[in-house]
Amino acid sequence: MRKKIIAGNWKMNKNHNEAVELINTLKSGIDTDKSDVVVCVPFVDLMSVSEAIKGTNINLGAQNMHFEESGAYTGEIAPSMLKELGVKYVIIGHSERRAYFGETDEIVNKKVKKALEHNIVPILCVGETLEERELNITIELVRVQVKKAFAGISKEDAKKVVIAYEPIWAIGTGKVATKEQAEEVCAEVRKVVAEVYGQDVADIVRIQYGGSVTGDSANELFNMPNIDGGLVGGASLKEDFIKVVNY
Ligand code: PGA
Repeated sequence: MRKKIIAGNWKMNKNHNEAVELINTLKSGIDTDKSDVVVCVPFVDLMSVSEAIKGTNINLGAQNMHFEESGAYTGEIAPSMLKELGVKYVIIGHSERRAYFGETDEIVNKKVKKALEHNIVPILCVGETLEERELNITIELVRVQVKKAFAGISKEDAKKVVIAYEPIWAIGTGKVATKEQAEEVCAEVRKVVAEVYGQDVADIVRIQYGGSVTGDSANELFNMPNIDGGLVGGASLKEDFIKVVNY
């Protein structure tokens, strides 16, 4: 039985004071028994949020990292820096990083590998645009994204990766995928993992759905057989996140 994993992606929201305020609002209401709960906060909030979640089972996550250990990469953050702050998860290849910051499947692959090397769990994002969905190439596209992201990753490491299927047309639009649409692609993602690593790995890997998840839609989505939780943007910045987690 796979344990659900629900992660909040705060994106570029909340300064370090606001972050503590939000965590304090959320932490008493969140049920961390049923699911693994992660908050992926801006880099500058990591320190204060790590303090604020002490004594809870909420896990700390980052939204990005560089694939090099250190060096002349102005403005970037190294995996060891995250590790030092208690970061357990890192979002890799979010569609906003791919679209606005030029992250390719190759870069995503390097980052997934590097996160694993540092024992940080990558939350690998894949998903199609509206145009790609209308062209009926969602499945092929997502299969390629998954295969490329996992290139060169061992079977043991593959088990640790969390995959987030996030249709880009559903992100921040309020247009949540239907549970059938989400399930179809999540099942396909599991199939690709099985083809590459075997059914035993596919049975372990957790696959989230992301895209306009709210407290009202969480239950039906997370109860689908191949959906093991969610990556939640907008709703993770509000008390609604409690409802999502306690779905
Ligand atoms: P959303 O964002 O829940 O606001 O649609 C999800 C995401 O981008 O991870």
